[in-house]
Amino acid sequence: MLKVLKWIGIAFGSLVGMLLVIGFVLFLIGNGRLNKTYDFPPSNIVVPTDAASIERGKHRVQVLCTGCHGADLSGVNNWFAVGPLGTIDSANLTSGEGGIGREFTKDEDYVRALRHGIDPEGKPIYMPAVPATSHLSDEELGAVIAYLKTIPPVDHKTNGHQFTLMAKILMAAGVFGKLPVEAVSHETNVTTPPAGVTEDYGKYLVDINDCRTCHGQELSGGKHPDPSVKVIVPNITPGGELAAWSETDFITAIRNGVTPSGHQLNPDLMPWKDYGLLTDDELKAIWLYIHSLPKLPQVTK
Ligand code: HEC
Ligand code: HEC
Repeated sequence: MLKVLKWIGIAFGSLVGMLLVIGFVLFLIGNGRLNKTYDFPPSNIVVPTDAASIERGKHRVQVLCTGCHGADLSGVNNWFAVGPLGTIDSANLTSGEGGIGREFTKDEDYVRALRHGIDPEGKPIYMPAVPATSHLSDEELGAVIAYLKTIPPVDHKTNGHQFTLMAKILMAAGVFGKLPVEAVSHETNVTTPPAGVTEDYGKYLVDINDCRTCHGQELSGGKHPDPSVKVIVPNITPGGELAAWSETDFITAIRNGVTPSGHQLNPDLMPWKDYGLLTDDELKAIWLYIHSLPKLPQVTK
């Protein structure tokens, strides 16, 4: 009897030991991914200083960045906070105390963050919008940087990402998918299709405005990227409800958050108030593009 207990004890002990070793190895892998240093050829973007470019940059920033970085762009503490996993603050984009306007010494530092998903030291950042901002053309990225350099400084300290041991283990096990730096194509230079009410320009606007993060790569919907949100994101290809919409219905839905069937879009789940700042021509181009897509069935996973 005692002998059996002893063997059970040894078996159990080695199982726990093995799990600890596996956990430790995964932690090392996860930590290694976060601490890996990357480098990419410089874009050599020349940041413009004329008023029209700064205005263009302001327009992009208001639609695309304020939702996560705050109305005054001074960053949001605990932008993501889940006890057992850790926290992510979105950065202070101004030149006040704690702002990247002070920390970034070169224009290329902005390009590294927004196009490649790395900080000035070459380490991965955990900004989920990088797959969208990596599509910003050289011209528009230059305009965005130009505008950021003109915004009023705000003193506000943020802490970047602080992941727990458990988060690093889950990261290595692939639970969170790819880091932004692992997900984007790292083109050195990017061009914009000519601005206008065209499908091509509509596709560019969909790419840079992050629609695919929630509506899926093919825009046919699916699970919300935030696992705590249980809503299935709708299909916006002509395979979904939008097949019966007109251009005006689409513009009204984005500007006022109400669909033709009278459904109120939740602004916390679908940032229509930010997208409502897109110009009429931009919304028309997006409509042309999504209306030209193949009819795909709603993804529900
Ligand atoms: C979906 C939310 C989201 C959007 C949209 C977003 N950001 Fe971020 N951004 C973050 C988070 C979160 C971080 C912090 C990442 C980290 O610390 O790993 C961050 C970090 C940054 C950094 C700091 C990088 C570094 O080296 O520390 C810059 C610069 C930045 N964002 C600029 C922008 C600009 C400009 C836009 C708009 C074109 C934008 N972001 C849009 C969430 C967002
Ligand atoms: C942060 C996630 C997120 C992003 C980014 C996002 N959407 Fe949405 N969208 C949603 C969710 C969730 C809904 C459903 C909201 C509801 O029913 O309250 C929705 C609804 C819609 C609808 C209404 C569809 C219907 O059948 O009622 C349209 C149109 C739409 N989004 C277009 C877009 C476009 C275009 C973009 C990019 C410019 C975009 N969305 C970006 C999450 C997002």
